[in-house]
Amino acid sequence: MNVKSLFRTKSIDTILTEAALDPNAHGTHGSSEGSLKRTLGVWDLTALGIAAVIGAGIFSTIGNAAASGGPGVSLLFIFTAIACAFSAFCYAEFASSIPVAGSAYTYAYASLGEIIAWIIGWDLLMEYAIGNIAVAISWSDYFTSLLDGYGIHVPTWMSMDLLTASRGYDAVKTAMDSGIAFTDLVAKGVAQGSIDGYNAWTTAPQLFGFHLIGDIPAMIITVVVTAIVYIGIQESKRINNAMVILKILVLMLVIGLGAFYVKPENWSPFAPNGVSGILKGVSAVFFAYIGFDAISTTAEECKNPQRDLPRAMIYSLVICTVLYIAVALVLTGIVRFDKLAVGDPLAYAFGPEGASVNWVAGVIAISAVVALFTVLLVFQLGQPRIWMAMSRDGLLPPVFSAIHPKYKTPWFSTIVAGFFVAIPCIFMNLTEVTDLTSIGTLSAFVLVCLGVLRLDPHRPKVPGRFYTPYINGKILFPVLCVLFTIGCIIWNNEGVTVFFQLGEWEVFKHKIPMFGFLIFIVGMCVWTYRKSLSLIPLMGVTSCAYLMTELGWTNWVRFILWLIVGLVIYFFYSYQNSKLAKKV
Ligand code: ALA
Repeated sequence: MNVKSLFRTKSIDTILTEAALDPNAHGTHGSSEGSLKRTLGVWDLTALGIAAVIGAGIFSTIGNAAASGGPGVSLLFIFTAIACAFSAFCYAEFASSIPVAGSAYTYAYASLGEIIAWIIGWDLLMEYAIGNIAVAISWSDYFTSLLDGYGIHVPTWMSMDLLTASRGYDAVKTAMDSGIAFTDLVAKGVAQGSIDGYNAWTTAPQLFGFHLIGDIPAMIITVVVTAIVYIGIQESKRINNAMVILKILVLMLVIGLGAFYVKPENWSPFAPNGVSGILKGVSAVFFAYIGFDAISTTAEECKNPQRDLPRAMIYSLVICTVLYIAVALVLTGIVRFDKLAVGDPLAYAFGPEGASVNWVAGVIAISAVVALFTVLLVFQLGQPRIWMAMSRDGLLPPVFSAIHPKYKTPWFSTIVAGFFVAIPCIFMNLTEVTDLTSIGTLSAFVLVCLGVLRLDPHRPKVPGRFYTPYINGKILFPVLCVLFTIGCIIWNNEGVTVFFQLGEWEVFKHKIPMFGFLIFIVGMCVWTYRKSLSLIPLMGVTSCAYLMTELGWTNWVRFILWLIVGLVIYFFYSYQNSKLAKKV
């Protein structure tokens, strides 16, 4: 094995030819007669983006982010949207020059080489499969609270994961040991989520001392979605557009009606736990934006992918950003931030603890159940398609691209993806899976932006294609990096104080990602200065890498372990079996 062979690339011409010849390459949209009908216009694509984006993030994970960051979390929504927008430009450039399904994995194969393509494919597993665990958990939260509204109570031990329950038990026990009565817990600021956890822990049946706690509705919905995807579903433009309208209407209802219940005193202090409190919400907020990149997989069905894909990505990001900021402000205005650590914060804000408009809480719960179902469906469709693409390239065993003779779906990949989501969602915690999804997706974004940086910005342009606008970063980028670093030091006081505690490993280890990041941007500055790199992809790399550093040491350890497992599979199986290896 030589190092060069790890970076072998698949030419764009080969990719385009294979896509044109292979009817199944179009997956769920596939037509057995070859190429697809190009029916999607810019607004259909924008709707698709919104459909994949609006989901568990704004319906669920925003709760924990707001509980730690307070109303200031709305600023995080702006910063994250900007980071996503830089990456969206890079996605758009690739999608425009390689308009085939396969998304970032395919782009990397063409530009950065096989091993990077493998890593991106492996990361996308985090985005789609692990992300769907979070969506399933969130669906279950809304579903059970909806049933509650109809007087059907699913025991908490059957609708919560073990970790949340045990943490909730500890939090409540500590509070009660300090003399707080159970009935006063909410008034004394103990999160509702912790109380639910305590209830689950104390009421669960036990087997040999083990508390039988698991999120059964999350598991069941995943099995149902997997069954639908297995049989094959044509993603219909009309259903999709209806879902998008539903999601937007619900968020507008939250904003429009919620505005009347806002108590401005809840916005003060704006950042109760400082910048570090806001930054604790990075993964939850970033999770809310994940999905706009999924539009790129429809490149073969766009009327004019070169023109419309970039626009649609930006339009969907802008629309979601505006909605998200408004929802964050209204939510933290209705209910005090520290009460929002619940799985269904939007419904909660209109329930008895908030605005007490029960019918709105009901409408939100019903809509969330439907809306989250569509996100589940889209991601559960996407995951097998990426495995299918990798299997076709020889990087995964052939069975991953086996097509069901009757249903014409990648049946094996679909079942594996179902297991991959259904089992962990019984016992995994929402925060843990959101963190993993976010770090995996951010790393894919970093690599896509790096891929654009590797292209020569002065190469001849093909008319009609989208190119990331070139702004020379030679001087500007290092200057922005210096300003950004100064800003971090001024605003994130905690960051400064730890510099004086570096002797302690427990403190130091949490700063390793940040030190790594600082070394990384120094390297990027040198590269930029020497090669006059393009500013937009540079900002994409830097902002996404920065967000990754905020995801904490534990996540980095898990992420690195994840990559190691991926690389072991690559070296033991994929490298030898790659179709490119066989061609040499
Ligand atoms: N952005 C998608 C969601 O929030 C993944 O559910």
